[in-house]
Amino acid sequence: MKGIAVVGTRGGVGKTSICHLLALGAAWKNIPAYLMHTDNREPISVNGRAYTFYDARKPETLSTLMGAAMNNDGLCIVDSGGNRPKFDKWIAESVDLVLMPITPDPESVDMALLHMQQLEEYGAKNVRFLLNMVSSNKNEQARDFRKYFYKIPEDKIIGKLKKVAAVKRLRESDTEPFKTPPSNVNNLSRTLYFMVKSALENIEESEEKEQSMKV
Ligand SMILES: Nc1ncnc2c1ncn2[C@@H]1O[C@H](COP(=O)(O)OP(=O)(O)OP(=O)(O)O)[C@@H](O)[C@H]1O
Ligand SMILES: [Mg+2]
Repeated sequence: MKGIAVVGTRGGVGKTSICHLLALGAAWKNIPAYLMHTDNREPISVNGRAYTFYDARKPETLSTLMGAAMNNDGLCIVDSGGNRPKFDKWIAESVDLVLMPITPDPESVDMALLHMQQLEEYGAKNVRFLLNMVSSNKNEQARDFRKYFYKIPEDKIIGKLKKVAAVKRLRESDTEPFKTPPSNVNNLSRTLYFMVKSALENIEESEEKEQSMKV
């Protein structure tokens, strides 16, 4: 089991959407995914999704669920809010990868860089950025890199996700049994899963190298 926390102090950058997308992308590859809802708002209700969604707002529930899942295969994805220093400490110690979505706006980038610093002070080793809601238009993309994303260390960016309006559906309660999302959402979910998979593999590889240097 790999633990992934999706964090960010800035609201609305896509944390929750990215958690659902990642869980869906894993499910497409038959990888079990467990999504932990931890923010204070009421969780959505799910019906027939290809991944498991837990109300893990109580820290003890989250620890118990993650502890129980530790020996299983798959991904444990924690949808985390921001501005929760206590929770950030737990995240820094408990997950394999911390994902921080950033959107093309100056506050998003600055807040993410500050938050990364904080998490690293708490001991988080693997904080990575994910550029979210990136324009499909090449000129706009280039402008956003020049204006905003240039501040982010390149080796910390795991990839970019395009704007796909239908992603919205994933964060809504299922009033009917969940239907397969449209292909642009599925494709985005697969892209995200592969980005995360390769980030986890790179992390594992460098940790193994580090270990062998110590021996
Ligand atoms: N890749 C994307 N393409 C299009 N819309 C997106 C994408 N990612 C997120 N959104 C939209 O942005 C809005 C905020 O997303 P979301 O709720 O996932 O953010 P959040 O960081 O979890 O917010 P909060 O801080 O309130 O928890 C939603 O309307 C969502 O549909
Ligand atoms: Mg959210």
